[in-house]
Amino acid sequence: MVQNRIEKRIIFQSSLFNLAEKTDVDKMNAGILKCTPNFVLLSIHETYMQRCLQLAASGAGAVAPNPMVGAVLVHDDRIIGEGFHTKYGEAHAEVNCINSVAVQDQELIKEGILYVSLEPCNHYGKTPACTDLIIHSKIKKVVVACKDPFEKVNGSGIEKLRANGVEVIMPVLEKDAMWLNRRFFTFHEKKRPYIILKWAQSDNLKMAGEHSTVIKISNEITDRLVHKWRSEEAGIMVGTNTALTDDPSLTTRLWKGNHPVRVVVDAALKLPASLNLLDDRYPTIIVNTCKRETLGSKLFYKYEAMDGLLPATMQALQQQNLLSVIIEGGGKLLSSFIRSGLWDEARIITNRQLYIKDGINAPTLENEILFKKELIRSDEICYYKRN
Ligand SMILES: NC(=O)c1ccc[n+]([C@@H]2O[C@H](COP(=O)([O-])OP(=O)(O)OC[C@H]3O[C@@H](n4cnc5c(N)ncnc54)[C@H](OP(=O)(O)O)[C@@H]3O)[C@@H](O)[C@H]2O)c1
Repeated sequence: MVQNRIEKRIIFQSSLFNLAEKTDVDKMNAGILKCTPNFVLLSIHETYMQRCLQLAASGAGAVAPNPMVGAVLVHDDRIIGEGFHTKYGEAHAEVNCINSVAVQDQELIKEGILYVSLEPCNHYGKTPACTDLIIHSKIKKVVVACKDPFEKVNGSGIEKLRANGVEVIMPVLEKDAMWLNRRFFTFHEKKRPYIILKWAQSDNLKMAGEHSTVIKISNEITDRLVHKWRSEEAGIMVGTNTALTDDPSLTTRLWKGNHPVRVVVDAALKLPASLNLLDDRYPTIIVNTCKRETLGSKLFYKYEAMDGLLPATMQALQQQNLLSVIIEGGGKLLSSFIRSGLWDEARIITNRQLYIKDGINAPTLENEILFKKELIRSDEICYYKRN
């Protein structure tokens, strides 16, 4: 699993890095040095790229709808500069990296190798093109993890560097880099947000009591984790019945972070204005078949019933530049996403000590791959991705 590999690399980097020499790759190829499950040998390029990914991840929650990007400048096997994209609209990783070089090392910039976890941009957006910065800095070698799928870049950054005599080595740790920015990649490649399904269920796979009675399933520590998850996504969505029966706020009040844009299905606009999620405190999209209107923080997004709710919702979220959405139920809404094959990740919380008699069945995933499992008291949390 990607996640596992990253962990193993971190173990390697922190405890054994100094033992590894450049020639270890040759030794490994010759069978002298063995790669074991707990010892994944990284090439020099992979090692510095891994540092770029660590830096990039520091921008989580602050850079969307931009990608998280990290950069490292290396001279003679020594890091002389590091940086990452810290905030949407502000300097890119390459700029922060080059600006971080100490005065006494600035002469070395042109002899350095620049590692960057995403293809450098080649257009003037909110900030100048990073390709121009690299060329003007006279850097001759750039190592890139993966191509930027954004249509204004999409390979043109690499082409421009090469056309200006810069050697570009890529891809390096491509899968890891794409996983880190999976929301960004899905948004640009599939023209829809990255979709995470989430629900809680009892040990006998029920998600609510008989006749939709609300039953507390997850514990308070798991609830905090769920609020952290919410803060990491651009949108959060529920079905009509869940809005009515649970009256959720869909905020991140148990975690310091961004509140996602709330999305609720209300085809016939029958939900009462007194519901928490219609309180106008945060932006909310009401997907409906009656009207298109903006009222305070509420956007009423009209769709034609024959076009289907899910495509319309995806379109609404894409138009709002929302890179990801977490679907928090109920069963009917979650099942319609599963049936349409419209999901990327699922996080299912199972309280192993809870049995709900005659409750409502939880949905069943299709084509899922389990990639992570954790236990919080009696809550078992399984993370899946779609095959
Ligand atoms: N354990 C958990 O994690 C969890 C999470 C959330 C909710 N719940 C529980 O689940 C229960 C509610 O679940 P539910 O399955 O009854 O309802 P739901 O999925 O919240 O809402 C279903 C309604 O939303 C609309 N809708 C959903 N998907 C649609 C689609 N693809 N196209 C058109 N309309 C769609 C329809 O409304 P109309 O028919 O009115 O058009 C449908 O009847 C509650 O008891 C709640 O407590 C549990």
